[in-house]
Amino acid sequence: MRDGLGDDIAEVLISADEIQHKISTLAKEITEDYRGRDLLLVGVLKGAFVFMSDLAREIPLPLAFDFMAVSSYGSATKSSGVVRILKDLDYEITDRHVLLVEDIIDSGLTISYLLRYLEARRPASLEICSLFWKKGEQAVPLDVKYPGFEIPPVFVVGYGLDYAEKYRNLPYIGVLKPAAYGADSPS
Ligand code: IMP
Ligand code: MG
Repeated sequence: MRDGLGDDIAEVLISADEIQHKISTLAKEITEDYRGRDLLLVGVLKGAFVFMSDLAREIPLPLAFDFMAVSSYGSATKSSGVVRILKDLDYEITDRHVLLVEDIIDSGLTISYLLRYLEARRPASLEICSLFWKKGEQAVPLDVKYPGFEIPPVFVVGYGLDYAEKYRNLPYIGVLKPAAYGADSPS
């Protein structure tokens, strides 16, 4: 049946099953590492909300959620390097164990900006969990303690990731057909 959303996908890169399997593995590691600690998951909106929701439900520990919203992309498909905070944390993170949850690391500029910003607030610990990262694209060295999938340096949508705010609700990630981009074609 044509669903109108999946029809725009040229190729599925990582299936819904593979994603869920990886999340179970990551969640097990996180559960072992944070047992007995005061864990705060900080999600980067909007992209990370799908991942964070699935991840948190696989971590059987008392934990809290907070979110930040940043803009690094606009409607184009390459990072500008300029990060603007649209929504700050609701809670203080001083002396708390913070796990920053990201959907995808491309240049790494967004996450490294956020790391510096959060580090200045003196958390007890600060680590990164990112579901995807693009091979060979990082402009800055990054220590990602809980990495998911390495993907090729192509623009992807689905599982929280958008193109012009669409496709976040696909349960897998894939590459769009050229026709789906309209005039604003990714490089
Ligand atoms: P970076 O600052 O270059 O690492 O870009 C990180 C942010 O850009 C991610 O949090 C996403 O919101 C967005 N992004 C990077 N690559 C993609 C992609 O392939 N599809 C959709 N969004 C992406
Ligand atoms: Mg993001």
